[in-house]
Amino acid sequence: MSKQNSHKEIYFDNNATTKPLPEVREEVCKVLGEEFGNPSSIHSTGERARKYLANARQHLADLLGCGPENIIFTSSGTEANNLVLYSCTLGAREKSRIVISNVEHSSINKMCSFLEIHGVEIEYLKVDSSGFLNLEDLEKALKKETDLVSIQWVNNETGVIQDIESIARICKDNGVPFHTDSAQAVGKLEFKITGMDIDYLALAAHKFHAPQGIGAVYTRDKLTIHPVLFGGFQEEGFRPGTENLPGIVGMGKAAEIRKENLKQTVKHMCEVRSRFESMILEKIPGARVNGSTEKRICNTTNIMFGDIDGRKLIMMLDGEGIRCSQSSACTNFETSPSFVLKAIGLSDDEAYASMRFSFSEENTADEIDEAVEIIVRNYKDLR
Ligand SMILES: Cc1ncc(COP(=O)(O)O)c(C=O)c1O
Repeated sequence: MSKQNSHKEIYFDNNATTKPLPEVREEVCKVLGEEFGNPSSIHSTGERARKYLANARQHLADLLGCGPENIIFTSSGTEANNLVLYSCTLGAREKSRIVISNVEHSSINKMCSFLEIHGVEIEYLKVDSSGFLNLEDLEKALKKETDLVSIQWVNNETGVIQDIESIARICKDNGVPFHTDSAQAVGKLEFKITGMDIDYLALAAHKFHAPQGIGAVYTRDKLTIHPVLFGGFQEEGFRPGTENLPGIVGMGKAAEIRKENLKQTVKHMCEVRSRFESMILEKIPGARVNGSTEKRICNTTNIMFGDIDGRKLIMMLDGEGIRCSQSSACTNFETSPSFVLKAIGLSDDEAYASMRFSFSEENTADEIDEAVEIIVRNYKDLR
């Protein structure tokens, strides 16, 4: 048995992915078993699959506060982001322009680098040392004709929450479509999207206890979406290809559960995070939280541990069963320091000395106490 396997697992990496809930697994098994039909088949097996699909779409719509007609299922949050950015530049004038922040997830910023090579102008807005976008900078950036503004709702590394309502309003007042990457917001923030000036939203189901490999786009108006894939008439042709029914059904179940228990879940995650953070800050002199601690998503803390190499500490903790990370899962294998932490003013050494802990409804106070003891001991050993 490897060292990792001899310890009970304490999972604090829920911004990377969450464990599917038992009810979600049960639903997924149904459509992997007797309800295996293809929703495009006209016979009864297909008819039942169509019902599963419609039911899941309704639950996701309920969580977002929109109609089922506003939702397009995709293979991931990444595809959802790519689809919106691609659509808005394809459908645009000869010279396209997109405004984003400098702390977007790679599914936004790498797509923008690709579009830039193909002639799209990209303006990158800086965030301040707390992680916030300056709204005056945004207004100034909209002086030139712009096809899309895309700003994440919640940062995946620091948990900082942007003032999306104001950002969306500014875009609307300037006649510019607004997209928000909400992979880390959906299921952790309470909102009704139809009451906001948001034109597009992307989400990733595996961030709220559904399976991996499924996501969705909310679009106020499907007429502005141009497909990236071509084939059948699934998702009305906006996203052809036989649907990932197990993933979609799992997402629907997870959305239904989260809609019902959102308030208690958020409260629980806040309590767990706060217990963890206060113990670490008390026991490790010089440790501090990166980014704003006020407008921050309930489950995330990103802590700078002083003069250690966080990557080494992560591996030592892994050996004792504690799972956490340094940056986003999509950039974990890059050797450079986190660009998000650099963007809020950390030096390379400070970024390398930082670690992200992201909690879920399944984490307990006992786990926190046990993990803090292990973290502090390993931190001291490392120093
Ligand atoms: C902020 C953000 N956007 C987009 C994504 C991409 O989602 P997916 O993993 O489903 O492609 C993630 C996932 O890590 C994320 O945290």
